[in-house]
Amino acid sequence: MKKIVVFTGAGVSADSGLSTFRDADGLWANYRIEDVCTPEALKRNRALVVEFYNKRRKELLGVEPNPAHYAIAELEQWFDVEVVTQNVDNLHERAGSTRVTHLHGELMKLRSERNQELIQPIEGWEQSLDARAEDGALLRPHIVFFGESVPMFDRATQLAAQADVMIVVGTSLAVYPAAMLVRYAKSGVPIYVVDPGNPDVSMIRNPLTHIKARAAEGMPELVKQLTSQQ
Ligand code: APR
Repeated sequence: MKKIVVFTGAGVSADSGLSTFRDADGLWANYRIEDVCTPEALKRNRALVVEFYNKRRKELLGVEPNPAHYAIAELEQWFDVEVVTQNVDNLHERAGSTRVTHLHGELMKLRSERNQELIQPIEGWEQSLDARAEDGALLRPHIVFFGESVPMFDRATQLAAQADVMIVVGTSLAVYPAAMLVRYAKSGVPIYVVDPGNPDVSMIRNPLTHIKARAAEGMPELVKQLTSQQ
């Protein structure tokens, strides 16, 4: 069975109503990264960081997967599919994808500030400021902040190296090391980019097809094309 690696970013969830980061109305147009997405921010102003992720979690509970998420899940009927996402939402899982690697963490999980292996699901959307983990340390969002290591990146590169086809959906390819994933596809492996904008594809050396469309339209089309070739 052919292996497909689907590498996604915030754009795949845009059609569910979640903000991207770098589009005109994106999250980083309304918040400073250094205020809400760095270890220093968590130390300096824990309440603001916790509130930022509580707001995003509350928003996530109010949205649904869109046709792009469902099309990616449907691929599993024909291919051996691995989703590697930069997104912290759980829309891939809620759409039925069964193998999802989160490079930048997960909104619906918290972890001990002392032991990054001590991870727990959060009930509902609100993390209270003084909630503690089993080890007694304060809890924090299970999110990879800027400047922190990306523990899942090695596994993601191994998956990318096994791909017979790579699909890149809804990412500006602006953040490292995640963006480097496209370089781990074996040479000759076709890469499809689904994005209405112009992500930075300059480091892609493989055969590249850019489907300039919103994911909710472009992904179902691409799935039709890939499955008709089966
Ligand atoms: N369908 C598909 N792609 C879309 C859509 C859509 N409806 N709307 C926007 N896009 C594209 C944009 O053109 C852009 O290429 O999605 C991409 C969004 O880029 P970013 O906002 O930079 O999001 P992303 O690439 O996921 O950011 C990577 O940066 O801030 C960190 O940790 C954060 O995981 C995030 C990482």
